[in-house]
Amino acid sequence: MQTSPIETGDFSHCPVDHGIASLERSARTLEVVWSDGHVSEFLYLWLRDNCPCGVCVHAQTKERLFDLLSVPEDLRPASVRVSADGALAVVWANDGHQSRYHPGWLRHHCYSESARTARRRRVRTWDAGLAGNLPEYPFRGLMTDDGILLDGLRALREVGVAMVLGAPPVPGTVGSLTERVSRIRTTNFGTLFDVCAVAQPNSTAYTALELPLHTDLPTRELQPGYQLLHCLVNQAQGGESVLVDGFHIAEVLRREDPETFAVLTTVPLEFRFHDEDSDYRSWGPVIRLDHAGGFDEIRFNTFICGPFDVPARRMAEVYRAFRRYFAMTRELRYQVRFRLTPGDLMVFDNRRVLHARTAFDTASGPRRLQGCYMDRDEVLSRIRVLERRPAPPAAPVPPAAAVPG
Ligand code: OGA
Ligand code: ZN
Ligand code: ZN
Repeated sequence: MQTSPIETGDFSHCPVDHGIASLERSARTLEVVWSDGHVSEFLYLWLRDNCPCGVCVHAQTKERLFDLLSVPEDLRPASVRVSADGALAVVWANDGHQSRYHPGWLRHHCYSESARTARRRRVRTWDAGLAGNLPEYPFRGLMTDDGILLDGLRALREVGVAMVLGAPPVPGTVGSLTERVSRIRTTNFGTLFDVCAVAQPNSTAYTALELPLHTDLPTRELQPGYQLLHCLVNQAQGGESVLVDGFHIAEVLRREDPETFAVLTTVPLEFRFHDEDSDYRSWGPVIRLDHAGGFDEIRFNTFICGPFDVPARRMAEVYRAFRRYFAMTRELRYQVRFRLTPGDLMVFDNRRVLHARTAFDTASGPRRLQGCYMDRDEVLSRIRVLERRPAPPAAPVPPAAAVPG
């Protein structure tokens, strides 16, 4: 039997892992009991607001056409039932509008406490133990195989760092890889920037000096989400790379030193970049928490931090907290250290992972990296699109009809 698929109002196909076992109506909510025993409670207004029909959602854009203010706040169904194809069918009392909800979609959007907790993005924090175990991906594979690309992007989301191997050490390669993912974030340093020692540097990055552990562009309202650094030449003595998971040391502080943690999560500090042509400034706490108390971002850079501008009575404690975080970045047990060789391209979450390089000696040979930035949104969007599952065929294809290969 061929049935038209139940509309989800979404671009993704929703797998149906559990069917609807029963429905229970109350004054303002519908209780959906699932075949695995889980119970979802949906406010009637929520259900009406999320009706996926062609009148309520634009068939092409999948954006909402329904006007929330066109229905009473206390609207109720005239009837609710589970239809033969498993959809939840509701007829609304106020205007007789009919809604059909896909069970997979509905379960996926259950907003019970347990479902919301399960949906929260979890990150895997790390310390020096990650050395030698950095997630690694071949450049060619990433450029040509969507499965490898998805694996790499998921590693970036969870671990916050990935090493790309075999990236042809020629200028432009880092841009091609970024554009394979999505789009580059251009800044005052250019679309692609060259990291090498120059005669007239406008940034410590463009000297041969050590760069202590930092995030890039804390001077901006929105720090770039990901940074890509591609090694083209590394013949100089020194110039080793260091990475530290800024969320991990924040986690340790939260546990061991709540006072310092409180200062670092609440006191905004100023960061600034200035040269002949620009003067960028932005403020933010060293550790920014999200609405649920998880880690959202680290903003830390000791060489472009502005003079602290905090109430006088708090200055000493702010220094104490800042020094504590700074000191932790220097502890070897948190650091992953390695030397980039031509063809290596490291990618890391610039709003989480602190990066550094040791000083290098320009007299001993050249060192040149090329880099660029990409916002976090771009990586997350690309992951979601790559994860979209195609809808299963309407009717099963008999094995004999399968095309070989
Ligand atoms: C930078 C930077 C690292 C390096 O340019 O911001 O951190 O290895 N460079 O030179
Ligand atoms: Zn509708
Ligand atoms: Zn940097």
